[in-house]
Amino acid sequence: MSQTKPTILVTGGAGYIGSHAVQSLQAAGYEVVILDNLIYGHRDLVENVLGAKLIVGDIGDRALLDRLFSTHSIAAVMHFAAYAYVGESVSSPAKYYRNNVVGTLTLLEAMVEASVKKIVFSSTCATYGIPKSVPIPEDHPQRPINPYGISKLTVEHILADFNRAYGLNSVIFRYFNAAGADPAGRLGEDHTPETHLIPLVLQAALGKRESISMFGTDYPTPDGTCIRDYIHVVDLAQAHVLGLERLLDGGDSETFNLGNGSGFSVREVIETAKQVTGQPIKAIECPRRPGDPPVLVGSSDKARKILGWQPQYRDLKDMILHAWNWHLQRHGQKRDFLPIRNLQLTIRN
Ligand SMILES: NC(=O)c1ccc[n+]([C@@H]2O[C@H](COP(=O)([O-])OP(=O)(O)OC[C@H]3O[C@@H](n4cnc5c(N)ncnc54)[C@H](O)[C@@H]3O)[C@@H](O)[C@H]2O)c1
Repeated sequence: MSQTKPTILVTGGAGYIGSHAVQSLQAAGYEVVILDNLIYGHRDLVENVLGAKLIVGDIGDRALLDRLFSTHSIAAVMHFAAYAYVGESVSSPAKYYRNNVVGTLTLLEAMVEASVKKIVFSSTCATYGIPKSVPIPEDHPQRPINPYGISKLTVEHILADFNRAYGLNSVIFRYFNAAGADPAGRLGEDHTPETHLIPLVLQAALGKRESISMFGTDYPTPDGTCIRDYIHVVDLAQAHVLGLERLLDGGDSETFNLGNGSGFSVREVIETAKQVTGQPIKAIECPRRPGDPPVLVGSSDKARKILGWQPQYRDLKDMILHAWNWHLQRHGQKRDFLPIRNLQLTIRN
């Protein structure tokens, strides 16, 4: 006899990482309700691909949240909804504190009021600031250098206080750079404006952008360009299901990094994208950007040990191939997927 699993509210479920998490939740048998104001989310993906219930609204709308919690039996919340453009957070900090901090506070108050006391929260490696050492463990000092990172760290503090005062349990995930797409090509990254390296490189491969800028080629790294930790979005989504199940099983609040553990340089990303796509990609060498650390790589040993998380797609080629197939479908003229066997990819089971 199949057992019905509880309903999970996913804020920001029409966005990049949230939509992949919804897909993983559905695959694991959960019912999902999505709350998204669609400022960056995609209605078509929710309606045509995920088929989940979508409530179009804002996490800062307390009356809407009260109605939502009273009309749906929600067991836990996965909270992805936020603004995530670091540069914009520097020029418009109020916008970031209002959405990411005040909006989240409104959500948390409504949860406590409705006795929904389990939340999985999207935090970020940006809460660490400039790392003192790599790979970065969870107990590394947190000194964010921009309002985006500060907004996420503030929510981490609020969650600790809500745990002590109201018994609200959380799993906090600090992600490194999410990359890749659903290997079946149904979901993927579609940000406007796009600021992430892999989709920008793929836009150049598609001819939608003339070139790609490499900011800093004189860093103390093997090829002189910055090294970053890329984590496949499907592996991220899987970790969210494990984090949720920890909470549903009565587990305490906990914080985990989610990263690959080994980084890839900007040049490596561009070279791998050339190989995967078979397209020329023009890369321009530019001066360093202030505040960019040479290497940002996290340790995810804790998530592996405590949650039993086993990322499947750690190879950069896999991430780029999945993202490329999605880009071809979503933005390209071609409709065919690239045959995986021609790319000498790491085969996993
Ligand atoms: N993409 C990354 O590499 C990365 C890295 C670290 C952390 N994160 C965090 O992960 C989360 C998801 O990131 P993403 O890349 O999927 O971003 P995204 O913009 O694709 O998704 C965010 C979603 O939240 C929605 N949203 C924003 N504000 C809202 C509000 N007030 N009410 C309701 N919906 C709202 C947007 O419409 C969007 O669909 C964010 O919290 C982000 O800070 C992302």
